[in-house]
Amino acid sequence: MNLDEIRRNFPVLSNSIYLNTGGTGPISINIAKEIQNIYEYARDYGPDTPKVKSDLEGRMEDTRHLTADFLNVPISSIAFTRAISEGMNIVAHGMNWNEGDEIIVSSEEHPSGIMPWLNLRDKFGVKVVKVKISDDKNTFLNELDDLINKNTKLISLSHVTTDTGHKLPAKEICDLAHQNGVAVIFDGAQSVGQFPIDLIDIGCDFYSFTAHKWLLGGWGVAGFYVNPEWIDKLNISWTGAYAGVWDRGLKDDVVYETTAHKFEFGGRQKPLYIAMGLAIEYINSLGINNIEKRVSKLTEKLKSGLADIPNVIMRSPNNLDFCTGIVTFSLGKLHGDQLSEEMLNRNILGRPSLRHTNISGIRISTAFFNNENELDSVLNAVYDISNSFK
Ligand SMILES: Cc1ncc(COP(=O)(O)O)c(C=O)c1O
Repeated sequence: MNLDEIRRNFPVLSNSIYLNTGGTGPISINIAKEIQNIYEYARDYGPDTPKVKSDLEGRMEDTRHLTADFLNVPISSIAFTRAISEGMNIVAHGMNWNEGDEIIVSSEEHPSGIMPWLNLRDKFGVKVVKVKISDDKNTFLNELDDLINKNTKLISLSHVTTDTGHKLPAKEICDLAHQNGVAVIFDGAQSVGQFPIDLIDIGCDFYSFTAHKWLLGGWGVAGFYVNPEWIDKLNISWTGAYAGVWDRGLKDDVVYETTAHKFEFGGRQKPLYIAMGLAIEYINSLGINNIEKRVSKLTEKLKSGLADIPNVIMRSPNNLDFCTGIVTFSLGKLHGDQLSEEMLNRNILGRPSLRHTNISGIRISTAFFNNENELDSVLNAVYDISNSFK
């Protein structure tokens, strides 16, 4: 990787120490320019002229191919969505629920990964139970196993947890769930773009992910993987144009697409979905294995530096199998909001984490484009803040 060249493509890195890819990944000059080019092309030649339309639709389908290859799944299993929560809701309203059915989530879900299930609790009396996050695989799987019972219908977990960046053992979770006839959906917000993901190998039923974090693909575009076995079984909830064919009122018959496309509805921001494909191409050009290795080297440096600073309490896992680019720590009793503000005063952008708990802290997201000097600045800043809040 030519880090200098990479960093020149992300102007934000000259303006601040940007360590919040887990919030929103920065967009590159190349992608921002290409989005602008596409809008100018549509502006100058007409967004609905046949040539422009087919060019943009063709490029959107290129993104679908790239996404499917990136996750190692058939193209027919990928639907475009607008947010992770949209994928969650496709499942929430696509399965049939009875009072007393149970859904297992983790103790560390993002609102998008729990609110759709709490809505089912309020509507149908479904029970939402929580498994505690642990960085010991057996402890975690045993706890999960203990929670599974004859009423359990779905397990919904972040593949990588948002607050502390625990990478959960996805394949083992699916094996355990399927032995018990339970379906699994993963929230891939913090995983896609950080390390290689093979959904066939993982064996999940559904996977909902977004372009705007580690993929560096921009806001408002996301994807949803539905295991081919579920395409027929999942009920349609929201629908509309492009989900299938309506016979224009002759009999009012609707024939839905036979692929994951049946879960897509309504018009789209085509340039932004094209940008998601460009982002995947960019990541492919760097190599997702190289990205994973570089992130792991950076987080190792950060964690070992933090370990030497008084009052730092590490919240992210030590077990390497669970580690990701997310490094969350507390500093004594300082609230995460205040710690983040102190860091921001030093032009370092992290994000408050675990803010509603008594172990509140800051989340530092180290991405491949971050460098060692930036991490030294973090360590100096934490040292300095630790001294001033003794
Ligand atoms: C774990 C997790 N899930 C979901 C999201 C976002 O979900 P949505 O795309 O619905 O806004 C985030 C971050 O914003 C997240 O960290």
